Amino acid sequence: MLIDSQAYGGPLVDQLLTGKALEAARQKCPELPALVVDDWTISDLEMIAVGAFSPLRGFMGQADYESVVHRKRLSSGLPWTIPVTLAVEANVADRAQLNEDWALTDETGAPWAVLTLRERYRVDRGIESEAVYGTRELQHPGVARVMRLGEWRLSGPIGLLRRPAPLDYGAHLIDPKESRRRFSDRGWRTVVGFQTRNPVHRAHEYIQKCAMEMVDGLFLQPLVGRTKDDDIPMPVRMRCYEALLESYYPADRVILGVLPAAMRYAGPREAIFHAIVRKNYGCTHFIVGRDHAGVGNYYGSFDAHRIFEQFDPGELGITPLFFDHTFYCGRCDNMTSSKTCPHPPENRLILSGTQIRTMLRNGDPIPREFSRPEVAEILRQSVREADA
Ligand code: ADX
Repeated sequence: MLIDSQAYGGPLVDQLLTGKALEAARQKCPELPALVVDDWTISDLEMIAVGAFSPLRGFMGQADYESVVHRKRLSSGLPWTIPVTLAVEANVADRAQLNEDWALTDETGAPWAVLTLRERYRVDRGIESEAVYGTRELQHPGVARVMRLGEWRLSGPIGLLRRPAPLDYGAHLIDPKESRRRFSDRGWRTVVGFQTRNPVHRAHEYIQKCAMEMVDGLFLQPLVGRTKDDDIPMPVRMRCYEALLESYYPADRVILGVLPAAMRYAGPREAIFHAIVRKNYGCTHFIVGRDHAGVGNYYGSFDAHRIFEQFDPGELGITPLFFDHTFYCGRCDNMTSSKTCPHPPENRLILSGTQIRTMLRNGDPIPREFSRPEVAEILRQSVREADA
């Protein structure tokens, strides 16, 4: 599959207000009914506006919502696995007049977007949780959010007034329009996208480089929106990515660009969603490894591979590259995987996130076979700073 000039399901969506439309929106916002939204919703607004969630132009209406929850498709039939909705309490839904414009603001009252209200509808949050996250347990961070928010939804197209200020990722904020331009400027015909919410360790590096042997370029796209509190903070991760790329990757074969989306931890459903989003950024291939977008023990290690079987090849417009569990094997004297290594577990170095955090806290050396020393040093430094 080669880079597609079209985005997922059609042209790349652009809901960023500019020029006269922006001026008009700014002027009318103070007169509009206002709704305060959280940083997660502001991130959804940004993703919709820049086209990362193409073909969505706003928050989903009831037909799309029901279809996504129950059939993993939009009402048009296009595959889509995660609801993108605006949740409100009943008292807010009660005052919603259809076809009215609403200002979506942050807690300070500053407007971020105008929503043209098309529908309001009520959902069953338990059914949504079960279908999307595979559980109703409140320990699951995705379920916790669904259950915390109201059971009413407002839908309609949005127009974005301004962008969140880039945090520590400044130069790496690359919108879909821009990533497509950069891929083409470099003459890449095939690009593999890589999703991560962690520092890149040797297992990640191995699967990225296996993929790079087959395609023209790597789009390393860490997710930098809301993650759960015990994930490594974004500014630390950014330093790790930069250090790693500088020392171990060919500069002309990699682009580091962030994805300012929130992490849903929806495992298999999120793997499809992540692939679709990368299609919008112009990628032709997408890496799905072990327990992609997983949390706790909610999903089987390879459920995120199997879900792709539910869609015809070609429907997603991006080719998944599946990787087995990868690790360092002392006998192979190499990074390897369950697919290629014949040796028993005692030869394999497999460290959990918890073990790594403990080693960092105790000042123990992180094995080179697990993490490049430059990355380990940044992580150690961040623990020292946090403890100071
Ligand atoms: S994720 O939540 O963003 O998926 P993470 O940053 O850990 O988590 O993983 C990024 C990608 O690398 C995912 O596709 C994941 O499946 C894959 N991955 C992570 N660790 C391994 C591993 N040891 N073996 C194979 N794939 C892995």
